[in-house]
Amino acid sequence: MNLYIGIDLGTSAVKLLLMDDQGQIKNVVSKEYPLEFPHPGWSQQNPEDWRRAIMEGIPELLKGFDGAAVAGIGCGGQMHGLVILDEEDRVIRPAILWNDGRTAKQVEYLNSEIGKERLSEWTANIAFAGFTAPKVLWVRENEPENFSRIAKIMLPKDYVNYILTGVHACDYSDASGMLLLDVQHKCWSREMLDICGICQTQMPKLFESYDCIGTVKPEIAKLLGLGEDVKVAAGAGDNAAAAVGTGVVGEGGCNISLGTSGTVFISSKNFGVDQNNALHAFAHADGGYHLMGCMLSAASCNKWLMDEIFRTSDYSAEQLPITEDRLGENHVYFLPYLMGERSPINDTNARGTFIGMTMDTTRADLTQAVLEGVAFAIRDSVEVARALGIRIDSSKICGGGAKSPLWKKMIANILNAELECLESEQGPGMGGAMLAMVASGAYASVQEVCDRFVRVASTVRPEPELAAKYEKRYQQFRKIYPACKELFSELVKE
Ligand code: XUL
Repeated sequence: MNLYIGIDLGTSAVKLLLMDDQGQIKNVVSKEYPLEFPHPGWSQQNPEDWRRAIMEGIPELLKGFDGAAVAGIGCGGQMHGLVILDEEDRVIRPAILWNDGRTAKQVEYLNSEIGKERLSEWTANIAFAGFTAPKVLWVRENEPENFSRIAKIMLPKDYVNYILTGVHACDYSDASGMLLLDVQHKCWSREMLDICGICQTQMPKLFESYDCIGTVKPEIAKLLGLGEDVKVAAGAGDNAAAAVGTGVVGEGGCNISLGTSGTVFISSKNFGVDQNNALHAFAHADGGYHLMGCMLSAASCNKWLMDEIFRTSDYSAEQLPITEDRLGENHVYFLPYLMGERSPINDTNARGTFIGMTMDTTRADLTQAVLEGVAFAIRDSVEVARALGIRIDSSKICGGGAKSPLWKKMIANILNAELECLESEQGPGMGGAMLAMVASGAYASVQEVCDRFVRVASTVRPEPELAAKYEKRYQQFRKIYPACKELFSELVKE
């Protein structure tokens, strides 16, 4: 029996999963690493920490299993992060992550001076602070010495694949989020490379996510307890990998991921762009395309409230007092913009905000406001998609936040859509292992693996009365950000 390793290279931890060729998950290991916030709104990580976590985690994952039976590895990774290597392939500076907001000036230059129309024509997208190209410009302007040493530009999971194979590779789904790829034609955009002052030789080679980029190097295989000839898939951005893991491939599927970030992912066979550029137009890991809305702080808002404010690790206990009768009745609202926001408002100055409290407001009301605020912000992206004529009356859901039945009920009613929960919650890791199955030749296509392995375990349905109550609340929520927008930018300037 062959085994496959799926890697989910997340923002707070790497989650490793061992799957057999019947789709059974045999083992899961998670290794945390630190996240630095060197300035408000900046977010960095040390690629060495990813390397260490993988090198320690895989032998642990394989304990009690036959490492020689591993046929393939596939990684889904946090997107957009800038990893720069010198001529000796040494990391030049900490990776600047997807939720880093330091590039407001570079984003303004790209969107206003280069212009959104041209960016959209070349890359199918406009600039957002978290995207990779503005970060390259930031390094060029602020760290010229580091910029001059760049021999390779990579994304986080590509660095992991490089450690495993020695190959500099990137897949189309992840490359889409760099603002350096001509997404429609699946090649690097000469115009964007020129604007950033870099050339094609500094970019990794492009692959489909399910392509094999090489095999694990013998010395690494030995350290990890693997056999020879372990194929490594190009892998995917974590959202595309999660969509594979939840079977959202082909035409018109929707997946909501409730992790550190929150995303609404809509798969499509054909290339398409949101004319207002509120949703990203990216390539998918199945060879097709997708549209995606991404909010920067989703489950992390609840984690922040629990860990930093309430100082508790018992998240479920905090949700217990939020009984059925309280749903749709909360008069406290929360804007979940703790790291600024990407979709759909694209505002690095936006901030987390509670509003509507009175003397009788309880701790549970605040918890409820945070869970609902995230759900309302997800609805903002869903509404953009609906306005494009995309029907979303049902979606898959995955990510850490999807473990809470209460949160799923809120989301189903706030979106007025059914949520399908899967037998396995392991979105990106599961997707990574499934991509590895195709890369190693066990299956002919991503669609085929999804048909074989993805199973819906339960469905959360909206309830008309509650959905109507939440509709009213959502219409109120929508007014809060426009009312605060100017104030946010004033506050940030101070
Ligand atoms: C997507 C995005 C996030 C990260 C999280 O555009 O920035 O979902 O991929 O890891």
